[in-house]
Amino acid sequence: MTASIVLKGTVSSGLGEGRKFMSIPEYRKQFVEALGMDPYPGTLNLRASESSAGDLARLKSTPGIAIKGFDSGGKTFGGVKAFDARIRGIECAIVMPERTSHTDTFEVIANEGLRDELALKDGDEVEVAVQL
Ligand code: CDP
Repeated sequence: MTASIVLKGTVSSGLGEGRKFMSIPEYRKQFVEALGMDPYPGTLNLRASESSAGDLARLKSTPGIAIKGFDSGGKTFGGVKAFDARIRGIECAIVMPERTSHTDTFEVIANEGLRDELALKDGDEVEVAVQL
């Protein structure tokens, strides 16, 4: 059986970067292949609670499911890793850059818009069950 952890995070808003990222066909194609997911065009940003800092660090140092980087239009797009997850029973995935960043925010993708599906707004706390 795969180990799993539960991360607590607070819903927050970003700068629309997730939508851009999720609209890039080379990434989308890989999400379909690797995760069986044709994701909603955006990422739900969650700020990890202090009690989840250790678990988030553990995730950052775990390989996860590899989404390869690529070059397109003269630009380099970095590799990403993903972890199967669930929020309140809904299938989703945590996605994060391969290259470690020191942010306490992590991002979630899903087939559906999670804010609508789960009536989430900024400041709400959710638990994310993650498969390592
Ligand atoms: O603007 P921001 O960077 O926070 O978000 P985005 O990645 O551009 O995504 C657009 C909106 O959809 C944001 O409000 C996200 O929180 C939301 N979202 C969602 O509800 N469910 C998802 N599976 C992905 C994004």
